[in-house]
Amino acid sequence: MDPQSTEQIKAGMDYEKARNGPPEGFPALKPVPSARYVDAEFNKLEKEYLWKKSWVYACHMDELPEKGSYVLWKRLGSPILIIRGKDDKVRAFYNTCRHRGGPLVKDNAGRRNLFVCGYHGWSYDHEGNLVAIRDPRDFPDFDKSCLGLIPVRCENFGAWVFINCDEDAEPLMDYLGPVAEQMAEFQPDKIRLANKAEYEINCNVKVLLDAFLETYHLKSIHQQTVDRFLDHLGTYIELWPNGHSRMTTPNRRPEWKDPGAAGLPELDSVGEIARDNNVSYNIYPNIVCPPSPTGMPFIIFWPKTLNTMTLECIWFSPDWGDGPLPKIWETRLDNFERILEEDTQFAPQIQASVESDGFKGIPLSYQERRIYHWHEELDRRIGRNNVPETARVEPMLSNYIERPQARNAAE
Ligand code: FES
Ligand SMILES: [Fe+2]
Repeated sequence: MDPQSTEQIKAGMDYEKARNGPPEGFPALKPVPSARYVDAEFNKLEKEYLWKKSWVYACHMDELPEKGSYVLWKRLGSPILIIRGKDDKVRAFYNTCRHRGGPLVKDNAGRRNLFVCGYHGWSYDHEGNLVAIRDPRDFPDFDKSCLGLIPVRCENFGAWVFINCDEDAEPLMDYLGPVAEQMAEFQPDKIRLANKAEYEINCNVKVLLDAFLETYHLKSIHQQTVDRFLDHLGTYIELWPNGHSRMTTPNRRPEWKDPGAAGLPELDSVGEIARDNNVSYNIYPNIVCPPSPTGMPFIIFWPKTLNTMTLECIWFSPDWGDGPLPKIWETRLDNFERILEEDTQFAPQIQASVESDGFKGIPLSYQERRIYHWHEELDRRIGRNNVPETARVEPMLSNYIERPQARNAAE
């Protein structure tokens, strides 16, 4: 991390700890309307303009170890086939044969020299080109070149593969902007896949996402865990363009180290902020990542229906050498799971609340402003005028959004 960002964050945490109220001029945030969590029309807009048009995490390069390796990805509904080509480039296509929609693959992962449709045998290469059809005599004047697999945008942030169903989306690295710059210290091109888990949760995806964007809840639901180590009153927040954000929370005792990570290899490129504090990124829309020198999870929030979601937790680690993952990871993953249980414990009840007449919107405080930032961005994506009035969030934070680089350049 650059020295200016380091100093800025340290000063920011000191400021937050010492303040007696919100900074002067900070607006009183308008309540976030409950319709955003329950309204089917809003949900449809969210699906169309957010989920179908966002860069989202798909897989790690370790899951595509060879030329011809593939992953079948279905987190947002449409089945998408992600293939490592002969040129080692990763490409994505709908897993949908151009003849009558048969699947090219059915397993979630594997390796193929050619992708042959199980229905009538049309064959596609690693680049999605239709290379052979059965009984060509019955398809006279047929131009195979027009019926390649339909591509989906697919780009890498280091070893992390992202996809976007919007063919006009800006390049991934432009979209990530400060996230990619600031996370470079975690060596995204070298980080290895360590563990994957997923949980079904009975709530609207935003009910749970909101909870991971603030530290206000530490003293209640993490009293015996996270709150013992972190001082939420010092949480320093940065709001970035495109909905991304970061919060940094100081350790109560700076010398505290996670016992679940004792003895694990560390990334020596990580600066003092992430070594001595708890840093948490929100890669918009749905990744929460608290990275440390010994590894990091991507906590990913996937919508399923209006009132159900999947929580995916994928851990990445610096290279641990040959052999299986070091044994201490069991402790680390157990500790993490305990914290997750604390975080998810109220989700179904909150869902019942948002569906009840007793829920009248969410009054957010200054220290919960990342949530407001997240929702403001959602309305920007949908287009403010397209959002039903009863669900709209009034833009209030534009003066508080800045890129770290621009700030440094101005100094
Ligand atoms: S649907 Fe694929 S070959 Fe017919
Ligand atoms: Fe939490």
